Amino acid sequence: MKKQINTIIKNAWMFAAAIIISLFSSCYYSNSSPGWEYMPDMAHSVAYETYSSNPFFPDSMNAIQPVPHTIPRGVYMPFHYSPQQTGYDSAGVNLSFPTWLNDEEREQGKHIYEIYCSVCHGKGGIGNGTIVENPKIKNPFPPPPSYFSENLINLPVGKMYYSVYYGKNLMGPYGKILNNNEIWKVVYYVKSLQQHHADSTATAGTAIASADTAVKSTANNGGNANAASGDSASKK
Ligand code: HEC
Repeated sequence: MKKQINTIIKNAWMFAAAIIISLFSSCYYSNSSPGWEYMPDMAHSVAYETYSSNPFFPDSMNAIQPVPHTIPRGVYMPFHYSPQQTGYDSAGVNLSFPTWLNDEEREQGKHIYEIYCSVCHGKGGIGNGTIVENPKIKNPFPPPPSYFSENLINLPVGKMYYSVYYGKNLMGPYGKILNNNEIWKVVYYVKSLQQHHADSTATAGTAIASADTAVKSTANNGGNANAASGDSASKK
């Protein structure tokens, strides 16, 4: 009897030791091995190559388009102005700077400008960017108009927004590259360049002193006329 009890105790010890050892060994983690998964369920989705085919989709492509008329949440706001001239004109009339723009946003606008725009428009905005003026380029890009030309200095901010969104002639569209707020920031920066220019050239000083303040203070209905004005969009 005593012998039996001893065997049971011995077995229990061995059993406990086995459990402890297996518990500790399961703490071992190797970067190169995913380990065993007993019930992976749907924890890991099957990775499909973006451009390979997939029999589950009607056009058999993995890279499916988003559902028509949907937009990624929180990224792009719809822009309700048509790409026609009428859209350009009404954007010019209805859109105004969102009220949240401030010095900090202008600095961010500058950053965006230097990444996307200065290559053509030049750092200062006179149209002498590197692809226009670099002597090493065989076929330089035709110089874009200076921001300080008469036409552009009086250009309403809504039209600027519109042209950045849709592009204009040789200038490509940025509507899918920059989001609503980023476009406002960069336009704000362009306007501030113009204002700075106006301030520094005594003659034009009064003409566009309004560039920044007036457009904002007129507080017309632009802010609400369109989601793209940014007033209704949350600030990034
Ligand atoms: C590839 C060169 C190029 C780049 C990059 C470029 N632009 Fe332009 N931009 C042009 C040209 C050329 C025009 C003149 C278009 C016309 O009136 O024919 C122009 C015109 C404009 C105008 C005046 C639009 C109007 O309605 O008359 C604004 C404002 C402007 N650009 C801002 C920007 C901003 C902001 C960026 C960066 C996000 C940018 N551009 C990037 C070449 C460029």
